[in-house]
Amino acid sequence: MLTIVVGGFFGDEGKGKIVAYLGLTDKPYIAVRCGAINAGHTIVYNGRTWKLRAIPSAFINKDTRLRIAPGALIRLDVLYKEIRETGVHDRLLLDYNTGVIEERHVEIERRDAILSGKIGSTLQGVGAAMADRVLRRLRLACDIPELKKMVTDVALEVNEALDKGFNVLIEGTQGTFLSLYHGTYPYVTSRDTTASGFASEVGIGPRRVDEVIVVFKAYVTRVGAGPLENELSEEETIRRGWVEKATVTGRLRRVAPFNIDLARRAVLLNSASQAAITKLDVLYPEARGVREWDKLPREARKWVEEIEGAIKTPITLIGTGPEATHIIDRRRELGFTR
Ligand code: GTP
Ligand code: IMP
Ligand code: MG
Repeated sequence: MLTIVVGGFFGDEGKGKIVAYLGLTDKPYIAVRCGAINAGHTIVYNGRTWKLRAIPSAFINKDTRLRIAPGALIRLDVLYKEIRETGVHDRLLLDYNTGVIEERHVEIERRDAILSGKIGSTLQGVGAAMADRVLRRLRLACDIPELKKMVTDVALEVNEALDKGFNVLIEGTQGTFLSLYHGTYPYVTSRDTTASGFASEVGIGPRRVDEVIVVFKAYVTRVGAGPLENELSEEETIRRGWVEKATVTGRLRRVAPFNIDLARRAVLLNSASQAAITKLDVLYPEARGVREWDKLPREARKWVEEIEGAIKTPITLIGTGPEATHIIDRRRELGFTR
């Protein structure tokens, strides 16, 4: 079974935590990370925290084969640092075609007034490297001698694993409204961040996708410039306890209440079959660490059900804390196999 996890707002919805949980429970044979190193995914497990920009968040399942998509972009120093931090050298491979960001890409972005000023880019060189890729001058993993033993054909491995009936988990990055095609252009990132975009980054056709899980947070956050409806003032954000700092850049995230219209459109753009909502414990502190639907406070259940009705999509996974296991998994009771 093939599952794709994507962000439903502007990124940082908690995809890392959801993917880490699915890694533990669904035991994927292969987990593939898409996107690039501008996206930081936070994983908290057994009290330890990792902030990963290249390695699949499902690494906490020690039996899962870890792969980086052909459409993804890495930086060698970031890759090696994360391999050391996670100890996954014996089960991590990149695709031959994974793109490699170089220092000059970072320099190009730092000098670019539109990216650093108007857009509020993370300035990690991702857009500049994508531009080089389009112009067919970007170096790929297969061009780097030191990666020789670390490359494989990810599309072939994933398709063969699916032929054998194994679970495969694809980890998207950022959020639907940062999509180059479907987002709030020009305030977007340099790739398509919808489920179709990530399927394409891996080398999977639309007919092979079984489940698309769109991840929302209990409120909306956005880093960098661009429209954010009903944005809260900094004082109001602090008063509500919704303050967040960006994983890669350390900037304060802009904040707004949950947005039903955006959520509906994210479901549409991704053909989502399920939704996840993280950080319910931030809205309802009594929900912290709860793992069963019936044990949630009544108001919290009502809030989730109202959103579920409005987006016409089952909310199968509910985050109740930062730990990978702080989740209510309603998939079975809602009729999903896994
Ligand atoms: P991008 O690909 O960069 O968009 O990141 P992401 O979607 O993986 O999210 P990121 O890890 O950057 O930010 C989510 C934050 O919320 C992290 O600090 C997580 O530890 C935290 N988090 C995730 N789920 C929950 C939850 O259910 N409750 C609480 N309290 N924190 C959560
Ligand atoms: P860039 O893709 O780094 O050039 O950034 C373009 C826009 O996307 C900026 O507004 C960034 O803040 C935003 N962005 C890029 N990656 C992420 C992410 O992982 N989480 C949240 N916002 C991101
Ligand atoms: Mg993030």
